[in-house]
Amino acid sequence: MLVYLNGDYVEESQAKVSVNDRGFIFGDGVYEVIRVVNGGFFQAIPHLTRLKEGLSLLRIDLSEQECESLLDIAHYLLKENDLTEGHATVYIQVTRGAAKRTHQFPNPAVEPTVFISVNRLVPNHELHQKGASAITIPDVRWTRCNIKSVNLLPNILAKQRAEDAGVFSTIMIRDGVVTETQNSNTFLVNDGVIYTFPKSNYILAGITRDVVFKMAKDLGIEIREEPVAEDKIYDMDEVFLSGTTTDIQGITRIDGITIGDGSPGPVTLKLVDKLKNEMEQSGKVISG
Ligand code: PDD
Repeated sequence: MLVYLNGDYVEESQAKVSVNDRGFIFGDGVYEVIRVVNGGFFQAIPHLTRLKEGLSLLRIDLSEQECESLLDIAHYLLKENDLTEGHATVYIQVTRGAAKRTHQFPNPAVEPTVFISVNRLVPNHELHQKGASAITIPDVRWTRCNIKSVNLLPNILAKQRAEDAGVFSTIMIRDGVVTETQNSNTFLVNDGVIYTFPKSNYILAGITRDVVFKMAKDLGIEIREEPVAEDKIYDMDEVFLSGTTTDIQGITRIDGITIGDGSPGPVTLKLVDKLKNEMEQSGKVISG
């Protein structure tokens, strides 16, 4: 596997970062995961915009020129790694760089570390049709969840709890309402209306979440940014998740309780299909 690190294309096994890298020491950096279908990026510009916003919030200074070159680099990696057919992901990570350990930013600033890799992704179409299970857990994260920080300890602990419970995902609860999952946004459907937690510092504003808003509008389905109380979850007609690696995934069992009739409902299935089509279109438009 060829990867990109700080200006060079290198074999993954040869790619080395300093032990003083602030990503390694502090988790001082941000990342993006972009979906690729047949060599075309899905929603590349929104991902880049979110990356730039994250860098700006963390005051990591990556030049405009470098930001603009990230997609070209990703495209080269996809070609070199033979990933221009089918589904794949691009992983981009930018950290504040390597410097002697001090909590405050290095002064003078150091060059940010830029790492890009590409990976095969196999969409789980069967699970999308069948539905999956989840458990609710407290959302113990910080209050700046809008930053796509590489600091993902609560998220990996959450996913491991799901794994230990033999379920697909957690659904996180903060102050008595559903926020999101460890790596996707959460939607709840009641009487034909979709509800989801408002864009704020308590969730990551998912790029796929924005696509869900657009698709719902196209399908004439009402969607509201309103939190749903924890004790209402089990009475919902449908629950589904959205994310770059999750697609649209119906959740049909939560904490051992069946949601709806136990299979993904009509709203979920329409969105599963529509997202699949939109992704395939993106492959046609940008490939080459
Ligand atoms: N996760 N919420 C959280 C906490 C996430 O980590 C993610 C994405 C999302 C969905 O965002 P998007 O639609 O832009 O992928 C929501 C990525 C895929 C990951 O950590 O692998």
